[in-house]
Amino acid sequence: MPHAAWAELEAAARRDADARIPDQFTADPDRLARLTLDVAGLHIDLSKQSWTHAGLKAALDLARACDVEGRRAALFNGEAVNLTEGRAVLHPALRAPDGADFHVLEEPVSAEVEAVRAEMKAYAEALRSGNETGASGRPFKTVLHIGIGGSDLGPRLIWDALRPLDPAIDLRFVANIDPRDMAEALIGLDPETTLVIVVSKSFTTQETLLNAQAAKAWLAAALPAEGMAKHFIGVTAAPEKAAAFGCGRTFAFRDWVGGRYSLWSAVSLSCVIGLGWDAFQGFLDGAAALDRHFLEAPLERNAPVLLALAEIYNVDGLHRPARTIAPYAHDLRRLPAFLQQLEMESNGKQVRRDGAPVGRQTCPVIFGEPGANGQHAFFQQLHQGPQVVPVEFIIVSRTCEETPSTYLWSNALAQAQALMQGKTETQARAELIASGASEDEADRLAPHKAFPGNRPSTAILMERLTPQTLGALIALYEHKTFVEGVLWDINSFDQWGVELGKVLAKALLKDAAAGAPSADLDPSTADLLRRLTA
Ligand code: F6P
Repeated sequence: MPHAAWAELEAAARRDADARIPDQFTADPDRLARLTLDVAGLHIDLSKQSWTHAGLKAALDLARACDVEGRRAALFNGEAVNLTEGRAVLHPALRAPDGADFHVLEEPVSAEVEAVRAEMKAYAEALRSGNETGASGRPFKTVLHIGIGGSDLGPRLIWDALRPLDPAIDLRFVANIDPRDMAEALIGLDPETTLVIVVSKSFTTQETLLNAQAAKAWLAAALPAEGMAKHFIGVTAAPEKAAAFGCGRTFAFRDWVGGRYSLWSAVSLSCVIGLGWDAFQGFLDGAAALDRHFLEAPLERNAPVLLALAEIYNVDGLHRPARTIAPYAHDLRRLPAFLQQLEMESNGKQVRRDGAPVGRQTCPVIFGEPGANGQHAFFQQLHQGPQVVPVEFIIVSRTCEETPSTYLWSNALAQAQALMQGKTETQARAELIASGASEDEADRLAPHKAFPGNRPSTAILMERLTPQTLGALIALYEHKTFVEGVLWDINSFDQWGVELGKVLAKALLKDAAAGAPSADLDPSTADLLRRLTA
């Protein structure tokens, strides 16, 4: 841990705590140019963040002291950066153009990546053209995608972001273990024209296997046994388990593809079927462009690095342990949920890579809703609550062809402006008097109508949400998450924190089957179990 660089950052943040963001534009005339970037179809504006020029410099010094460049090289070189599982993490290999030469633990992998891409493309094209049909010879109309976590959130985000309004092949997603999720997804579907894709890296996830069993039974009730293989396929890093489960065909990926980084792999096969290969290729290309930027741009002009530093400055420097994601595009409504897994499963940790305590705040709590909906829900607290919650505005200039999105984006800009500028009690009082309020009434109401302001935000703009800009946006967040892990010195690629609950749930299932809590259960859990089994 580079203690001196951390101490410098904390000292700079203490000095910046009371600096007003709007004043920084006059104090530093180059601020806007220094803190805006154009990368792979995205315009990124970090100039409304809280740091002064000195604060930014301290943050960049920290990035250098933490050897972001060295750790980035280890990632791209396919070294075992996931130390607790002894694995490389090489999702950039999945989106590299044909002819790339990536190695994982010194083994070449790019040819295998290209072979799976070709397999996906051929299969999706056969399905879309009607050459590959269901057991009864009818073309497929729907794909039922079953998976959870990284095997669900990415493909669901891609589909919602890019789907045609009236797709030739529709996609339905089932993740939840609650049978209502499956029941809802199956409404109106015909087994003869439905392809079920079971997606699970491990092929051991309880929720996914239960849902897969249910879908298999649903298909089997309507199809001849010999036809099942055409309707029930798997995507996994454990092909032998998928075959044993009854998947007629399997698309594979390797263990160096982390679950929450797997949407670039065959995990997104459903989207390839729904959108066509060209769209998926555009998605990969957008991410590859962002990869090149991340590898080549100097730290002070490197978008993932600057986003990560802004977060660290807020979280550790200024003690702001939450962040809001506000995508001003209906089609990006799943982005907050996707980022919750990407960032919180990656960096929601309290020990360093060597097992010692991190000793500082790590991943903030992330929440969000699409704009403008969020404005009418939790934005009140963002403007006037005592905590400062940085906001990320993701703004699409044209969300649909027919209608300009001016209403949408002007709201986004206005929110960011209001958060930064605020309104003093004196201003609020003057406005009340000007609108005809009495002196007494103005005194009474002014404190309620004042805004502290000085609340930071980042804006990420794109002209249109295309496969390319979506790919770039997701890759931007992936690398930002990686850089934060480097700065906190944590392993961003394991997720042991989800395991204990899984083990305890299995024990409780046994208690539920026995109809009584086991003797070692705490009184509260035992009482709840008794009520639920009654
Ligand atoms: O429980 C968390 C998790 O392991 C995630 O990391 C993963 O994305 C998800 O479960 C699903 O896992 P799988 O793809 O193996 O079914």
